[in-house]
Amino acid sequence: MRRKLAAGNWKMNGTAASLDEVRAVAEAHPAPSVDLLLCPPATLIDRMVRAAAGSAIAVGGQDCHAAAAGAHTGDISAAMLTDAGATHVILGHSERRTDHGETDDTVRAKAQAALAEGLVAVVCLGETEAQRDAGETLPVVGRQLAGSLPDAGVTGATLVVAYEPVWAIGTGRVPTLDQIAEVHDVMRAELVGRFGDAGEAIRLLYGGSVKPDNAGEIFATSNVDGALVGGASLAATDFSAVIAALEAAPAA
Ligand code: PGA
Repeated sequence: MRRKLAAGNWKMNGTAASLDEVRAVAEAHPAPSVDLLLCPPATLIDRMVRAAAGSAIAVGGQDCHAAAAGAHTGDISAAMLTDAGATHVILGHSERRTDHGETDDTVRAKAQAALAEGLVAVVCLGETEAQRDAGETLPVVGRQLAGSLPDAGVTGATLVVAYEPVWAIGTGRVPTLDQIAEVHDVMRAELVGRFGDAGEAIRLLYGGSVKPDNAGEIFATSNVDGALVGGASLAATDFSAVIAALEAAPAA
């Protein structure tokens, strides 16, 4: 059985004052029945780890470089994330793919580096609106899935995959539940085909405008094991409501 995961992606938001939100989430969920993860900007990882110490909240990065060290100004290695106390890293988010030209090859190399360092990789993929309108959603997602995931070291404990339709991120628009189920069921089948039993154990998150008022129905959808939450993870009250919805969701 897959343990559900509520993950928050703070993106380029948050300063020291925002750590009060982390403390509030920790207090509201001292012993959650689901896994909790928050991914702040790199500048806050160390302080968030300390703010969340003793709680159920794991802390992750939002990106890492594929190389272990070297002349890469502004970048962060997987080892630096673990050194700061992170246990997870988001990779291949559509904003990285768009803003920084990351390809499936780039993302796979980063994911391999993350796993080698002992980080859990949360690999993101999803179609653009034009691709959905052109009926290309499943081929696009299939291609990204095949190209972005590492080959070695993949288990249900080392890899999480997040389906995030680009047109649903930060827009308040959400696919229908049938559309989410269609993509998640196909991803599950492809993961099982490629990784066998491990493919059954990999958590599949939905991401894109998950809010307290739509979380419950999304979490009841086939092969949805949790969410990657952007905007609604910034305030403890919203994220806490999403966590509560996930705790109330039917078992996978
Ligand atoms: P959103 O972002 O919840 O603000 O739509 C989700 C994400 O990009 O991970």
